Amino acid sequence: MMIDKFCFALRHGRFNLASPFGFRPILRTLLVAALGFFGPGLSHGAGDSSTGAPATPKMQFPEGTATQSGLCGTCHKMMWREMYNGAGTDLEWRSMKVQSTSKALLNLPPSDSRSTTAHYVAGTDPWPIEAARLEERGRKCNVCHYPQAFEYPDILSAKIDPPKPRDLFQERGITCASCHLTPEGKIRGSYGVDAPHATVVDERIKTSAACAYCHSEGARVVGKQDQTFLEWRDDFNKPGLGHQHCQDCHMPRTVRKLAEDYPVPERVVARHTWTGGHSFARVASALNLAIAQTTEGQSELALHVINIGAGHSVPTGNNRRAIYLTAELVDAKGKVVANKDWMFAPWVLGRPDDKKYVEEDLKGEDPIATSQADAQGPHETIIRAGEDRMLDWSPRAPAGQYTVRATLTYDLNRYNDRAFKADQYEIGKASLPIKVTGPKKVS
Ligand code: HEC
Ligand code: HEC
Ligand code: HEC
Ligand code: HEC
Ligand code: HEC
Repeated sequence: MMIDKFCFALRHGRFNLASPFGFRPILRTLLVAALGFFGPGLSHGAGDSSTGAPATPKMQFPEGTATQSGLCGTCHKMMWREMYNGAGTDLEWRSMKVQSTSKALLNLPPSDSRSTTAHYVAGTDPWPIEAARLEERGRKCNVCHYPQAFEYPDILSAKIDPPKPRDLFQERGITCASCHLTPEGKIRGSYGVDAPHATVVDERIKTSAACAYCHSEGARVVGKQDQTFLEWRDDFNKPGLGHQHCQDCHMPRTVRKLAEDYPVPERVVARHTWTGGHSFARVASALNLAIAQTTEGQSELALHVINIGAGHSVPTGNNRRAIYLTAELVDAKGKVVANKDWMFAPWVLGRPDDKKYVEEDLKGEDPIATSQADAQGPHETIIRAGEDRMLDWSPRAPAGQYTVRATLTYDLNRYNDRAFKADQYEIGKASLPIKVTGPKKVS
């Protein structure tokens, strides 16, 4: 590896040790030997077109997107630590229960870090695997969890087709190569640097197009699951609510070397952390909660749930996610005299979840996935980018002093029991003292 680095530096003309002493051919031979470590895929490139220097062997990745991320991590050390271990984040994978009736608690296999990123465990996270077994009778449904190399879709396309699944080593999930390897076998990046592997510049890697394939499916349907990219494009970017692309929020940048042990300059680089539903800091930054008394002297209230932090709907993506808003009216003695709760969640299909469809669902193609969602409906739709969702509540209350208390709770899986807390976070709290003087109101 040292030789490899050294020779790489030579090719860049940063060290001036080469030809006069005939070092270069020797080093080149050693370099070929060093690269041999990477297996049979080694080939000889067509030469360095910029300098006219003789052909230099470039690393190849014969396993395609199944190439283990740890291989890339031998040179891109910090990226690897971030992706594998969530370095620098509050990511935490606690136990999961798939359904209310499930007995077993699902945990990541011991070989995976509990602070890993979702991308790293997309092929080993036991929950999607168990969900596929229960809901799809084992049918391999999650193409996005282990795709083949793809070209980016057009950022303006009306519909996002899912990527093609990879049959090989599905347990490796989403790898560095899943995002960086092009169908031609080159590594895409925004710089176009000279590297031990072939690189190709694609500026779109800094845009939401890089995430679209796996973070949206089909055409836009407001309220439905699997719409994150389309929500970002149509609700956030297009109206001008913000200029951020997915990376600006989910891959915060820093300045450092891309490959630590190489004589390369520091560059602006995005952290590979992708915090989402498994990060308290991330979900807690999404919403604001506020309470208002809409008529003085009466128990007429408005609860505001405002999407201030996400460039898409909240909760976004998977239909399993939910946010609960619970409100309580507490009297002067501390007794709860009224309460109510709401659930915000993505619909499983392109229409509102509703109990009235349950029987039909059970006879359909996806009986479990659709009926578990419909059995909980109707419910509030997801809160769109920039939206201030106002929920009216007029509890009955005799004249007196009260406190209104409201809480927002994020739930990774709305289909197990609400009493199961390992997959929940409290992400917002508000309270308001009110005085009720007027006649009783009927809610
Ligand atoms: C033998 C060491 C080594 C291995 C293994 C390696 N890289 Fe690199 N890579 C480098 C070096 C060195 C650079 C150039 C860094 C620079 O100039 O800042 C680089 C550059 C890159 C870039 C930037 C490309 C650009 O032009 O913007 C990306 C992206 C990248 N590598 C991804 C990968 C991926 C993905 C893998 C695994 C499939 C991988 N690398 C394996 C050493 C390696
Ligand atoms: C989910 C997709 C995804 C995965 C997985 C991924 N990357 Fe990246 N990577 C990106 C994106 C997007 C950027 C550009 C971010 C930006 O600056 O906007 C990037 C940037 C980079 C860069 C810097 C080049 C540049 O254009 O900024 C390197 C080097 C790199 N990645 C290496 C890796 C390595 C090594 C791994 C595995 C440990 C990996 N990546 C895994 C999406 C990914
Ligand atoms: C190759 C498909 C693919 C691409 C490309 C991709 N993702 Fe993902 N992403 C997934 C899958 C699958 C998961 C869920 C894995 C799991 O939990 O099992 C995921 C999870 C996530 C999560 C975490 C959700 C959680 O549960 O914590 C975030 C955040 C995220 N992706 C952001 C991005 C961003 C930003 C990009 C573009 C730079 C991107 N992804 C590109 C497939 C992809
Ligand atoms: C302005 C910042 C911002 C932008 C831009 C943004 N996100 Fe998010 N993202 C958030 C916040 C805040 C959350 C937590 C709330 C939620 O889960 O909806 C989040 C959550 C997520 C999750 C976790 C969902 C889950 O169920 O675990 C994924 C996946 C995700 N974003 C992907 C993306 C993708 C893909 C894009 C670009 C198309 C994007 N985000 C753009 C801020 C942003
Ligand atoms: C369009 C791409 C895509 C397809 C197809 C897909 N998934 Fe996913 N899956 C994702 C993404 C992206 C996430 C990350 C969470 C989010 O966006 O809310 C995810 C997350 C999940 C999670 C939550 C994982 C966790 O630990 O938080 C489960 C469970 C899951 N998927 C199961 C499935 C099942 C079962 C299927 C087949 C019916 C499937 N997925 C098909 C993209 C996809």
